[in-house]
Amino acid sequence: MNVFVTKQIPEIGIKLLKEAGIAVTVADQSLNQEALIREVQGYDALLSAGFVKADAHFLEGCRHLKVLSLFSVGYDNVDIDAATRLGIPVGNTPGVLSRATSDIAFLLMLAVARKAFYNYRKILDSKWKEFEPIADLGIELYGKTLGVFGLGKIGLEMAKKCRAAFDMKVIYHNRRPQEEAEKELGAQYVSFDELLTRSDVLSVHANLSPETKNIFNKTAFSKMKPNAVFINTARGGLHNEADLKEALDHKIIWGAGLDVTNPEPMAPDNPLLKMPSVCVLPHIGSATAETRDQMAVLAAKNVIAGLNGDRLPTIVNP
Ligand code: DGY
Repeated sequence: MNVFVTKQIPEIGIKLLKEAGIAVTVADQSLNQEALIREVQGYDALLSAGFVKADAHFLEGCRHLKVLSLFSVGYDNVDIDAATRLGIPVGNTPGVLSRATSDIAFLLMLAVARKAFYNYRKILDSKWKEFEPIADLGIELYGKTLGVFGLGKIGLEMAKKCRAAFDMKVIYHNRRPQEEAEKELGAQYVSFDELLTRSDVLSVHANLSPETKNIFNKTAFSKMKPNAVFINTARGGLHNEADLKEALDHKIIWGAGLDVTNPEPMAPDNPLLKMPSVCVLPHIGSATAETRDQMAVLAAKNVIAGLNGDRLPTIVNP
């Protein structure tokens, strides 16, 4: 049995695979869709650490695979219906990255509220001269309302941090009400419109799907408060970047913190990067040593189960 791994992953995952008697090949360069289809022909399993577009064309080209294991919780890049039709089990890495990703949402919220990246650049650009009582003021978060779009594991962790640190009220919009969160955090389920109109900080934690694509667009931003902070650590496709920029330019909302953009990478000359109340990071939500180790273990376990003909521990197919 053998597996092709598309990028170097933490050694702990490679070790688990080898201990299970699986021959491991790690790609020595980034491969596009066609190159990857060609490459995996001689392999029983694919461990995909990146976001190659695994659409029906790709999956048909890889129909011999016994398992497709993703090194991510998100699987919007995979046509799950096609994988299921072709009998390819797909695994992801839920749960283990919830704390790390919500840390980044929290970090962005605070960084935006205090214009941290902009103020840091002022030092680099020799624009910080002396203390100024009314220059570049931020906003406080104490007692404000956090709106969570998608109260899954990551959204819940973000809500807990905001309650504990800033005593924020939590409202949320989800496919289904989350009774546990309501009991634990006093979170209140609201309609999407209410989430937009009531949130001081609106943090996005939903999957990217046809229903959520571009859901944060001109209409949505126009309903938000002028002091609102928009945070997205989920997927760049959930917000429309041009509409976001317009909302910021016209002070329809106050600021934005993005760990995900559309496209990725964001171009270095993107005007959002220069805006005082905007902070952008390069998709590092899960990028801690501890979390990446746990993702590697889970991704390896999914490969091992798939190659043994067992149900994947964290399977995505229905
Ligand atoms: C995921 O797991 O989906 C993140 O976006 C990458 O860590």
